[in-house]
Amino acid sequence: MLSWDDEVTSTPAPRAAQPQFQPQPQLQPELPPQSQPAIAPASPQDAAFAAPAVPPVDAAAVAARRVNAADKRIINGQTDVNQLVPFKYKWAWDKYLAGCANHWMPQEINMQRDIELWKNPNGLTEDERRLVKRNLGFFVTADSLAANNIVLGTYRHITAPECRQYLLRQAFEEAIHTHAYQYIVESLGLDEGEIFNAYHEVASIRDKDEFLIPFIDVLTDPAFKTGTTETDQQLLKSLIVFACLMEGLFFYVGFTQILALGRQNKMMGAAEQYQYILRDESMHCNFGIDLINTIKMENPHLWTPEFKEEIKALFLKAVELEYRYAEDTMPRGVLGLNAPMFKGYLRFIANRRAQQIGLDAMFAQEENPFPWMSEMIDLKKERNFFETRVIEYQTGGALNWD
Ligand SMILES: [Fe+2]
Ligand SMILES: [Fe+2]
Repeated sequence: MLSWDDEVTSTPAPRAAQPQFQPQPQLQPELPPQSQPAIAPASPQDAAFAAPAVPPVDAAAVAARRVNAADKRIINGQTDVNQLVPFKYKWAWDKYLAGCANHWMPQEINMQRDIELWKNPNGLTEDERRLVKRNLGFFVTADSLAANNIVLGTYRHITAPECRQYLLRQAFEEAIHTHAYQYIVESLGLDEGEIFNAYHEVASIRDKDEFLIPFIDVLTDPAFKTGTTETDQQLLKSLIVFACLMEGLFFYVGFTQILALGRQNKMMGAAEQYQYILRDESMHCNFGIDLINTIKMENPHLWTPEFKEEIKALFLKAVELEYRYAEDTMPRGVLGLNAPMFKGYLRFIANRRAQQIGLDAMFAQEENPFPWMSEMIDLKKERNFFETRVIEYQTGGALNWD
Protein backbone atom coordinates (compact mmCIF):
# COMPACT_ATOMS: atom_id res chain seq x y z
CA MET A 1 0.00 0.00 0.00
CA LEU A 2 1.27 3.50 -0.78
CA SER A 3 1.83 6.03 1.96
CA TRP A 4 2.17 9.77 1.45
CA ASP A 5 5.98 9.43 1.65
CA ASP A 6 6.28 6.79 -1.03
CA GLU A 7 7.63 7.85 -4.34
CA VAL A 8 5.00 7.34 -7.01
CA THR A 9 6.44 5.65 -10.03
CA SER A 10 4.90 5.73 -13.45
CA THR A 11 4.40 1.96 -13.47
CA PRO A 12 0.67 1.28 -13.31
CA ALA A 13 -0.43 -1.01 -10.49
CA PRO A 14 -1.32 -4.51 -11.65
CA ARG A 15 -5.09 -4.75 -12.18
CA ALA A 16 -5.46 -8.40 -11.35
CA ALA A 17 -6.82 -7.61 -7.88
CA GLN A 18 -9.69 -5.55 -9.25
CA PRO A 19 -13.15 -7.07 -8.83
CA GLN A 20 -14.31 -8.83 -11.95
CA PHE A 21 -17.29 -6.72 -12.87
CA GLN A 22 -19.37 -7.29 -15.92
CA PRO A 23 -17.74 -5.46 -18.82
CA GLN A 24 -19.58 -2.20 -19.30
CA PRO A 25 -20.20 -0.64 -22.65
CA GLN A 26 -17.15 1.34 -23.58
CA LEU A 27 -17.31 4.98 -22.59
CA GLN A 28 -16.67 6.28 -26.07
CA PRO A 29 -16.57 4.24 -29.22
CA GLU A 30 -13.03 4.43 -30.47
CA LEU A 31 -12.31 6.71 -33.40
CA PRO A 32 -9.73 5.97 -36.02
CA PRO A 33 -6.43 7.61 -34.94
CA GLN A 34 -6.58 10.30 -37.60
CA SER A 35 -9.95 11.53 -36.35
CA GLN A 36 -9.04 11.96 -32.64
CA PRO A 37 -9.71 15.61 -31.76
CA ALA A 38 -6.49 17.60 -31.19
CA ILE A 39 -6.30 19.03 -27.65
CA ALA A 40 -4.05 22.04 -27.15
CA PRO A 41 -1.48 21.57 -24.34
CA ALA A 42 -2.45 23.67 -21.31
CA SER A 43 1.11 24.45 -20.21
CA PRO A 44 4.71 24.05 -21.42
CA GLN A 45 5.00 20.94 -19.18
CA ASP A 46 1.97 19.44 -20.87
CA ALA A 47 3.52 20.28 -24.21
CA ALA A 48 6.23 17.73 -23.51
CA PHE A 49 3.55 15.03 -23.53
CA ALA A 50 1.51 16.46 -26.37
CA ALA A 51 0.90 14.23 -29.34
CA PRO A 52 2.31 15.37 -32.61
CA ALA A 53 0.02 17.53 -34.72
CA VAL A 54 -2.90 15.52 -36.16
CA PRO A 55 -5.09 16.22 -39.13
CA PRO A 56 -8.33 18.22 -38.60
CA VAL A 57 -11.24 16.60 -36.75
CA ASP A 58 -13.43 14.32 -38.80
CA ALA A 59 -16.83 15.87 -37.96
CA ALA A 60 -18.77 12.86 -39.19
CA ALA A 61 -16.79 10.49 -36.97
CA VAL A 62 -17.28 12.76 -33.94
CA ALA A 63 -21.03 12.94 -34.60
CA ALA A 64 -21.15 9.16 -35.00
CA ARG A 65 -19.78 8.58 -31.51
CA ARG A 66 -22.45 10.75 -29.84
CA VAL A 67 -25.18 8.80 -28.03
CA ASN A 68 -28.22 8.20 -30.16
CA ALA A 69 -31.32 7.61 -28.03
CA ALA A 70 -32.56 4.94 -30.43
CA ASP A 71 -29.44 2.84 -29.69
CA LYS A 72 -30.07 2.68 -25.93
CA ARG A 73 -31.15 -0.65 -24.42
CA ILE A 74 -32.22 -1.58 -20.88
CA ILE A 75 -29.87 -4.57 -20.85
CA ASN A 76 -26.79 -5.36 -22.91
CA GLY A 77 -26.74 -1.80 -24.29
CA GLN A 78 -23.61 -0.47 -25.98
CA THR A 79 -24.18 3.26 -25.44
CA ASP A 80 -22.28 5.32 -22.87
CA VAL A 81 -23.90 4.75 -19.44
CA ASN A 82 -22.51 8.09 -18.24
CA GLN A 83 -24.73 10.12 -20.56
CA LEU A 84 -28.18 10.59 -19.12
CA VAL A 85 -29.49 12.44 -22.16
CA PRO A 86 -30.74 12.11 -24.85
CA PHE A 87 -33.59 10.38 -23.01
CA LYS A 88 -35.13 7.25 -24.36
CA TYR A 89 -36.88 5.88 -21.26
CA LYS A 90 -38.73 9.01 -20.20
CA TRP A 91 -40.95 6.95 -17.83
CA ALA A 92 -37.88 6.17 -15.73
CA TRP A 93 -36.84 9.82 -15.50
CA ASP A 94 -40.42 10.84 -14.61
CA LYS A 95 -40.47 8.28 -11.80
CA TYR A 96 -37.13 9.60 -10.55
CA LEU A 97 -38.63 13.12 -10.40
CA ALA A 98 -41.78 11.80 -8.68
CA GLY A 99 -39.66 9.92 -6.12
CA CYS A 100 -37.74 13.10 -5.31
CA ALA A 101 -40.97 15.11 -4.99
CA ASN A 102 -42.23 12.52 -2.46
CA HIS A 103 -39.13 12.80 -0.29
CA TRP A 104 -39.66 12.34 3.45
CA MET A 105 -37.60 11.47 6.52
CA PRO A 106 -38.65 9.28 9.47
CA GLN A 107 -37.74 11.76 12.22
CA GLU A 108 -40.28 14.25 10.86
CA ILE A 109 -43.05 12.08 12.25
CA ASN A 110 -43.98 12.44 15.89
CA MET A 111 -43.95 9.11 17.73
CA GLN A 112 -45.04 10.42 21.14
CA ARG A 113 -48.57 9.00 21.07
CA ASP A 114 -47.29 5.63 19.87
CA ILE A 115 -44.80 5.52 22.73
CA GLU A 116 -47.51 6.33 25.30
CA LEU A 117 -49.83 3.71 23.84
CA TRP A 118 -47.12 1.04 23.73
CA LYS A 119 -46.04 1.72 27.34
CA ASN A 120 -49.62 1.69 28.64
CA PRO A 121 -50.30 -1.92 29.76
CA ASN A 122 -53.91 -1.53 28.59
CA GLY A 123 -53.03 0.35 25.40
CA LEU A 124 -52.92 -2.63 23.04
CA THR A 125 -53.99 -6.26 23.21
CA GLU A 126 -51.43 -9.08 23.20
CA ASP A 127 -52.45 -9.98 19.66
CA GLU A 128 -51.89 -6.39 18.52
CA ARG A 129 -48.44 -6.35 20.15
CA ARG A 130 -47.50 -9.66 18.51
CA LEU A 131 -48.64 -8.28 15.17
CA VAL A 132 -46.47 -5.14 15.54
CA LYS A 133 -43.39 -7.11 16.57
CA ARG A 134 -43.70 -9.77 13.85
CA ASN A 135 -44.40 -7.04 11.36
CA LEU A 136 -41.25 -5.11 12.24
CA GLY A 137 -39.37 -8.40 12.41
CA PHE A 138 -39.88 -8.80 8.68
CA PHE A 139 -39.45 -5.19 7.63
CA VAL A 140 -36.29 -4.24 9.59
CA THR A 141 -34.19 -6.45 7.32
CA ALA A 142 -36.38 -6.60 4.18
CA ASP A 143 -35.40 -3.16 2.95
CA SER A 144 -31.71 -3.86 3.50
CA LEU A 145 -32.15 -6.90 1.26
CA ALA A 146 -33.85 -4.66 -1.28
CA ALA A 147 -31.10 -2.02 -1.08
CA ASN A 148 -28.29 -4.56 -1.42
CA ASN A 149 -30.06 -6.18 -4.32
CA ILE A 150 -30.19 -2.86 -6.15
CA VAL A 151 -26.72 -1.57 -5.35
CA LEU A 152 -24.73 -4.80 -5.58
CA GLY A 153 -26.87 -6.64 -8.11
CA THR A 154 -29.42 -5.02 -10.42
CA TYR A 155 -27.68 -1.68 -10.96
CA ARG A 156 -24.64 -2.93 -12.86
CA HIS A 157 -26.69 -5.07 -15.24
CA ILE A 158 -28.91 -2.19 -16.36
CA THR A 159 -27.40 -0.19 -19.22
CA ALA A 160 -29.97 2.64 -19.52
CA PRO A 161 -28.78 5.67 -17.52
CA GLU A 162 -32.34 6.93 -16.92
CA CYS A 163 -33.12 3.63 -15.22
CA ARG A 164 -29.88 3.76 -13.25
CA GLN A 165 -30.84 7.25 -12.09
CA TYR A 166 -34.13 5.90 -10.73
CA LEU A 167 -32.35 2.94 -9.10
CA LEU A 168 -30.06 5.37 -7.25
CA ARG A 169 -33.12 7.20 -5.90
CA GLN A 170 -34.77 3.88 -5.04
CA ALA A 171 -31.67 2.70 -3.17
CA PHE A 172 -31.77 5.83 -1.01
CA GLU A 173 -35.49 5.30 -0.36
CA GLU A 174 -34.72 1.75 0.83
CA ALA A 175 -32.21 3.28 3.26
CA ILE A 176 -34.94 5.67 4.48
CA HIS A 177 -37.29 2.72 4.98
CA THR A 178 -34.73 0.77 7.01
CA HIS A 179 -34.20 3.98 9.01
CA ALA A 180 -37.97 4.30 9.57
CA TYR A 181 -38.33 0.76 10.91
CA GLN A 182 -35.29 1.23 13.15
CA TYR A 183 -36.77 4.52 14.37
CA ILE A 184 -40.03 2.79 15.32
CA VAL A 185 -38.17 -0.03 17.12
CA GLU A 186 -36.07 2.51 19.02
CA SER A 187 -39.02 4.80 19.83
CA LEU A 188 -41.06 1.96 21.30
CA GLY A 189 -38.06 0.58 23.18
CA LEU A 190 -38.49 -2.88 21.62
CA ASP A 191 -35.92 -5.62 22.09
CA GLU A 192 -33.63 -4.92 19.13
CA GLY A 193 -32.04 -8.37 19.30
CA GLU A 194 -35.45 -10.01 18.99
CA ILE A 195 -36.70 -7.80 16.16
CA PHE A 196 -33.52 -7.65 14.05
CA ASN A 197 -32.95 -11.41 14.34
CA ALA A 198 -36.51 -12.38 13.50
CA TYR A 199 -35.50 -13.09 9.91
CA HIS A 200 -33.30 -15.89 11.25
CA GLU A 201 -35.48 -16.98 14.12
CA VAL A 202 -39.13 -16.72 13.03
CA ALA A 203 -39.96 -19.39 10.46
CA SER A 204 -42.66 -17.44 8.58
CA ILE A 205 -40.22 -14.53 8.08
CA ARG A 206 -37.17 -16.69 7.36
CA ASP A 207 -39.05 -18.62 4.69
CA LYS A 208 -39.91 -15.43 2.80
CA ASP A 209 -36.29 -14.25 2.89
CA GLU A 210 -34.95 -17.66 1.91
CA PHE A 211 -37.25 -17.62 -1.09
CA LEU A 212 -35.74 -14.28 -2.18
CA ILE A 213 -32.05 -14.81 -1.49
CA PRO A 214 -31.17 -17.03 -4.48
CA PHE A 215 -32.56 -14.34 -6.80
CA ILE A 216 -30.34 -11.73 -5.15
CA ASP A 217 -27.30 -14.00 -5.10
CA VAL A 218 -27.44 -14.63 -8.83
CA LEU A 219 -27.19 -10.90 -9.62
CA THR A 220 -24.56 -10.08 -7.01
CA ASP A 221 -22.26 -12.92 -8.12
CA PRO A 222 -19.24 -11.11 -9.64
CA ALA A 223 -19.02 -13.79 -12.34
CA PHE A 224 -22.61 -13.25 -13.50
CA LYS A 225 -22.92 -11.55 -16.89
CA THR A 226 -25.90 -10.90 -19.06
CA GLY A 227 -25.70 -11.42 -22.81
CA THR A 228 -26.95 -14.96 -23.31
CA THR A 229 -30.58 -16.10 -23.34
CA GLU A 230 -29.97 -18.04 -20.15
CA THR A 231 -28.41 -15.20 -18.17
CA ASP A 232 -30.82 -12.59 -19.55
CA GLN A 233 -33.70 -14.82 -18.38
CA GLN A 234 -32.04 -15.14 -14.97
CA LEU A 235 -31.87 -11.35 -14.69
CA LEU A 236 -35.47 -10.97 -15.84
CA LYS A 237 -36.59 -13.59 -13.33
CA SER A 238 -34.82 -11.79 -10.48
CA LEU A 239 -36.39 -8.49 -11.52
CA ILE A 240 -39.86 -10.10 -11.56
CA VAL A 241 -39.32 -11.73 -8.16
CA PHE A 242 -38.23 -8.44 -6.67
CA ALA A 243 -40.77 -6.05 -8.18
CA CYS A 244 -43.83 -8.28 -8.34
CA LEU A 245 -43.33 -10.68 -5.46
CA MET A 246 -41.22 -8.88 -2.88
CA GLU A 247 -42.17 -5.22 -3.24
CA GLY A 248 -45.47 -6.07 -4.88
CA LEU A 249 -46.75 -8.91 -2.66
CA PHE A 250 -44.56 -9.74 0.39
CA PHE A 251 -45.03 -6.23 1.78
CA TYR A 252 -48.80 -6.20 1.62
CA VAL A 253 -49.87 -8.22 4.66
CA GLY A 254 -47.55 -6.08 6.78
CA PHE A 255 -48.63 -2.75 5.30
CA THR A 256 -52.32 -3.61 5.66
CA GLN A 257 -51.88 -4.60 9.31
CA ILE A 258 -50.16 -1.41 10.44
CA LEU A 259 -52.44 0.81 8.37
CA ALA A 260 -55.43 -0.99 9.93
CA LEU A 261 -54.05 -0.06 13.36
CA GLY A 262 -53.81 3.57 12.20
CA ARG A 263 -57.42 3.49 10.98
CA GLN A 264 -58.40 2.64 14.56
CA ASN A 265 -56.35 5.57 15.89
CA LYS A 266 -53.66 3.25 17.24
CA MET A 267 -49.93 3.58 16.51
CA MET A 268 -50.63 6.61 14.34
CA GLY A 269 -46.96 7.60 14.01
CA ALA A 270 -45.93 4.13 12.86
CA ALA A 271 -48.94 4.01 10.55
CA GLU A 272 -47.96 7.30 9.00
CA GLN A 273 -44.42 6.07 8.36
CA TYR A 274 -45.83 2.94 6.73
CA GLN A 275 -48.11 5.08 4.63
CA TYR A 276 -45.14 6.95 3.14
CA ILE A 277 -43.26 3.68 2.69
CA LEU A 278 -46.26 2.15 0.92
CA ARG A 279 -46.34 5.07 -1.49
CA ASP A 280 -42.61 4.67 -2.22
CA GLU A 281 -42.94 0.91 -2.61
CA SER A 282 -45.82 1.20 -4.99
CA MET A 283 -43.60 3.42 -7.15
CA HIS A 284 -40.74 0.87 -6.91
CA CYS A 285 -43.12 -1.86 -7.97
CA ASN A 286 -44.42 0.19 -10.91
CA PHE A 287 -40.90 1.09 -12.00
CA GLY A 288 -39.91 -2.58 -11.83
CA ILE A 289 -42.93 -3.54 -13.93
CA ASP A 290 -42.07 -0.91 -16.58
CA LEU A 291 -38.49 -2.17 -16.56
CA ILE A 292 -39.61 -5.79 -16.99
CA ASN A 293 -42.05 -4.97 -19.77
CA THR A 294 -39.46 -2.90 -21.65
CA ILE A 295 -36.89 -5.70 -21.40
CA LYS A 296 -39.55 -8.09 -22.73
CA MET A 297 -40.30 -5.73 -25.61
CA GLU A 298 -36.63 -5.33 -26.50
CA ASN A 299 -35.89 -9.06 -26.08
CA PRO A 300 -39.05 -10.97 -27.02
CA HIS A 301 -37.12 -14.25 -27.33
CA LEU A 302 -36.77 -14.36 -23.52
CA TRP A 303 -40.53 -14.69 -22.93
CA THR A 304 -40.91 -18.37 -23.76
CA PRO A 305 -43.78 -20.63 -22.61
CA GLU A 306 -41.37 -22.50 -20.29
CA PHE A 307 -40.18 -19.24 -18.78
CA LYS A 308 -43.76 -18.11 -18.18
CA GLU A 309 -44.53 -21.42 -16.43
CA GLU A 310 -41.51 -20.92 -14.21
CA ILE A 311 -42.69 -17.44 -13.27
CA LYS A 312 -46.18 -18.70 -12.58
CA ALA A 313 -44.80 -21.32 -10.16
CA LEU A 314 -42.87 -18.58 -8.35
CA PHE A 315 -46.03 -16.50 -7.99
CA LEU A 316 -47.91 -19.45 -6.48
CA LYS A 317 -45.08 -20.14 -4.04
CA ALA A 318 -44.92 -16.48 -2.99
CA VAL A 319 -48.67 -16.35 -2.32
CA GLU A 320 -48.35 -19.47 -0.17
CA LEU A 321 -45.43 -18.00 1.83
CA GLU A 322 -47.15 -14.67 2.39
CA TYR A 323 -50.31 -16.43 3.48
CA ARG A 324 -48.32 -18.43 6.04
CA TYR A 325 -46.90 -15.16 7.30
CA ALA A 326 -50.46 -13.80 7.63
CA GLU A 327 -51.47 -16.84 9.71
CA ASP A 328 -48.39 -16.54 11.91
CA THR A 329 -48.85 -12.83 12.59
CA MET A 330 -52.62 -13.20 13.18
CA PRO A 331 -53.32 -16.55 14.84
CA ARG A 332 -56.72 -15.10 15.80
CA GLY A 333 -58.77 -12.28 14.36
CA VAL A 334 -57.34 -8.87 15.27
CA LEU A 335 -58.32 -5.31 14.30
CA GLY A 336 -61.19 -6.66 12.22
CA LEU A 337 -58.64 -8.62 10.16
CA ASN A 338 -57.98 -12.32 10.01
CA ALA A 339 -55.72 -14.58 7.96
CA PRO A 340 -58.46 -15.97 5.66
CA MET A 341 -59.29 -12.42 4.49
CA PHE A 342 -55.68 -12.19 3.31
CA LYS A 343 -56.03 -15.33 1.24
CA GLY A 344 -58.41 -13.41 -1.01
CA TYR A 345 -56.34 -10.24 -0.87
CA LEU A 346 -53.09 -11.99 -1.84
CA ARG A 347 -54.80 -13.74 -4.74
CA PHE A 348 -56.25 -10.42 -5.84
CA ILE A 349 -52.80 -8.79 -5.76
CA ALA A 350 -51.07 -11.75 -7.44
CA ASN A 351 -53.59 -11.63 -10.28
CA ARG A 352 -52.94 -7.95 -10.74
CA ARG A 353 -49.14 -8.32 -10.73
CA ALA A 354 -49.34 -11.22 -13.20
CA GLN A 355 -51.50 -9.18 -15.57
CA GLN A 356 -49.20 -6.18 -15.24
CA ILE A 357 -46.35 -8.20 -16.76
CA GLY A 358 -48.49 -9.85 -19.41
CA LEU A 359 -49.38 -13.15 -17.74
CA ASP A 360 -52.90 -14.47 -17.29
CA ALA A 361 -54.61 -14.08 -13.93
CA MET A 362 -53.77 -17.10 -11.77
CA PHE A 363 -56.78 -17.32 -9.52
CA ALA A 364 -60.50 -17.19 -10.14
CA GLN A 365 -61.85 -13.64 -9.91
CA GLU A 366 -60.94 -12.40 -6.44
CA GLU A 367 -62.48 -9.34 -4.82
CA ASN A 368 -60.32 -6.87 -2.94
CA PRO A 369 -61.36 -7.18 0.74
CA PHE A 370 -59.43 -4.00 1.60
CA PRO A 371 -60.50 -1.34 -0.91
CA TRP A 372 -59.28 1.35 1.50
CA MET A 373 -55.69 0.25 0.80
CA SER A 374 -55.85 1.90 -2.65
CA GLU A 375 -56.65 5.25 -1.02
CA MET A 376 -53.50 4.81 1.05
CA ILE A 377 -51.37 4.23 -2.03
CA ASP A 378 -52.84 7.23 -3.82
CA LEU A 379 -51.96 9.48 -0.89
CA LYS A 380 -51.53 13.09 -1.87
CA LYS A 381 -49.05 14.70 0.41
CA GLU A 382 -51.09 17.86 0.91
CA ARG A 383 -54.05 15.76 2.10
CA ASN A 384 -52.40 13.32 4.43
CA PHE A 385 -54.82 10.66 5.62
CA PHE A 386 -53.71 10.84 9.23
CA GLU A 387 -53.25 14.61 9.05
CA THR A 388 -50.25 14.73 11.30
CA ARG A 389 -47.68 15.98 8.87
CA VAL A 390 -47.80 18.38 5.97
CA ILE A 391 -44.41 19.02 4.40
CA GLU A 392 -43.60 19.56 0.76
CA TYR A 393 -40.10 19.17 -0.61
CA GLN A 394 -39.54 21.39 -3.58
CA THR A 395 -37.49 20.18 -6.46
CA GLY A 396 -34.83 22.50 -7.85
CA GLY A 397 -36.90 23.01 -10.98
CA ALA A 398 -39.81 24.29 -8.89
CA LEU A 399 -37.87 27.02 -7.09
CA ASN A 400 -38.88 30.57 -7.81
CA TRP A 401 -35.88 32.89 -8.27
CA ASP A 402 -37.84 36.16 -8.41
FE1 LIG B 1 -38.47 -0.19 0.87
FE1 LIG C 1 -38.67 -0.92 -2.46
